[in-house]
Amino acid sequence: MAYFSIAVDGPAGAGKSTIARAVAAKLGFIYVDTGAMYRAMALYLLKQGIGREEETAIKDACRQAEITIRYEDGAQQVILNGENVSSKIRTEEVGNMASATSIYLPVREKLVQLQQKLAESANVIMDGRDIGTCVLPEAQAKIYLTASPAVRAKRRYDELKEKGMACNLEEIEQDIIERDYRDMHREHSPLVQAEDAVLVDSSSMTVDQVIEAIIQIARGKGLDIG
Ligand code: DC
Repeated sequence: MAYFSIAVDGPAGAGKSTIARAVAAKLGFIYVDTGAMYRAMALYLLKQGIGREEETAIKDACRQAEITIRYEDGAQQVILNGENVSSKIRTEEVGNMASATSIYLPVREKLVQLQQKLAESANVIMDGRDIGTCVLPEAQAKIYLTASPAVRAKRRYDELKEKGMACNLEEIEQDIIERDYRDMHREHSPLVQAEDAVLVDSSSMTVDQVIEAIIQIARGKGLDIG
């Protein structure tokens, strides 16, 4: 692998995107948010009125939905059939649909291809569920980032509140538990800690401490920039 890759996997609300974005800015890496791609696919399915169990329709939709990535001032933008949908994919509805439809192989194959291409042309920090295990098995540094369900639910609640979205803490915790179960028990590329990943439990760490821990792990794996 010509470029340095950092793979960050973990359950919903572990802080992966906040941390990965900050690490990317510090190291001059590209941040690849793979969850956003599954969310864009889910948004397409919701817009088409396709249900989460309609496997054949979902397979066909994979051919019709064109998903690409573009960067604006360093921020990843997700483009769905020519439309920038980055601001439309952050709802719980889309997140749950993404979890439910990411179980299908055609969805995964389509998006994994795009993710691997991105890592071929730049130093990346990529977050998701299967990055260290399937997308970038040769990544030099792998991190499994987690936190207790209660802490993750509270973080997501604060995030949604800040955006002015209506939400309920108990419902969010229940959603997170269900989503984790589905992501960890699906047939294709379930969320598991890669054998060579370093476990970071951020339950009682500050954002800065987690950022520093990840940079140290990458340095320990040979990163000599930043
Ligand atoms: O990280 P997120 O909440 O934006 O991801 C939404 C869903 O997408 C997640 O519950 C499962 C799926 N996903 C996946 O299957 N593989 C990835 N690499 C990233 C996300």
